[in-house]
Amino acid sequence: MSAPDREVLWHDLECGDYEEDLPLWRELAEQAGGPVLDVGAGTGRVALDLAARGHEVVALDRSEPLLRELRRRARRRRLPVEVLLADARELAVARRFGAIIVPMQTLQLFGGAAGRARFLAVARAHLRPGGLLAAALADALEGFDADHTEPPLPDIREVDGTVYSSRPVAVREAPDAVSIERIRETVDRAGHRTAEGNVIWLDRLGVAQVAAEGAALGLAPLPARSVPATDEYVGSQVVVLHG
Ligand SMILES: C[S@@+](CC[C@H](N)C(=O)[O-])C[C@H]1O[C@@H](n2cnc3c(N)ncnc32)[C@H](O)[C@@H]1O
Repeated sequence: MSAPDREVLWHDLECGDYEEDLPLWRELAEQAGGPVLDVGAGTGRVALDLAARGHEVVALDRSEPLLRELRRRARRRRLPVEVLLADARELAVARRFGAIIVPMQTLQLFGGAAGRARFLAVARAHLRPGGLLAAALADALEGFDADHTEPPLPDIREVDGTVYSSRPVAVREAPDAVSIERIRETVDRAGHRTAEGNVIWLDRLGVAQVAAEGAALGLAPLPARSVPATDEYVGSQVVVLHG
C-alpha cells in the first residue's frame, strides 16, 4: 500500500470530522437544484455528502492531492462526483450551477478584497439565473476569546502506526486578517518524532460586507444563516446571495 499523502492526512485531521454545517448545505442544494459547485472541496467532506443524497456535484479545489483523494473516495462509494482542479478565482468552465457553495471559511482564503472580488465575479458568471451562492464565514478569534479559558484541544489520529496531532496554538491579528497557528506533530512506531508549524491567514469578513460586494455585481442578498459552534469548532455565519 502506498504511503498516505501528508497533505491529505493533515487536511482530514483538521477539517474532515466537521459535520455541523452539513444540514445547511443539504438544504441549500435541495432548494437551488443542481448542479452544485463545491468550492474548495478538499477531500470531499461536503461534496461526497451531497452526491450521496443524489445531487449532481462538481468539486473544485486547487490542490491536486486533495482532489485525487476525493476522486478515489467517490469511486469507492460509486458516487458520480466530477472534479475540477482550478483556482476558484480563475474559474472558467462552460457550465452554469444552481448552487455555488463555499464551506468552511474558504472565502476567507482568497487573498483579501481583490481576490474575493475576482471570485465573486466568476461565481456570478457561473450561476444559473436565480441560483444560490452561499459562503460560510467565521471569526477565528472566537476560539481564543474570554469564553475559552483552555487552549483548543489537538486533533489526533493514528494512521498505519503513526500518530498525527495538530494543535492550534495561537491566533494573531492583523488589520484585515487573522492567522491561526498550529503545531503539527507525528510520532511513528519507532518513536521518531517530527514537529512543524503551520500558519493560515483568514481574511476578516462579515456577512454584510460580502452581501455588499455581491450586490455590486448584481447578486441579491437572502437572509443569512448560521451554523452553531461546537466544543471543537467555532460557529459560522453563512452569507446567501442569489443570481
Ligand atoms: C478549510 S478547507 C475546506 C475543505 C472542505 N470544503 C471542507 O469543508 O471540509 C479549504 C480548501 O480550499 C482550498 N482552496 C484554498 N484556496 C483556494 C483557491 N483559491 N481555489 C481553489 N481552492 C482553494 C484548499 O485547498 C482547501 O482544500
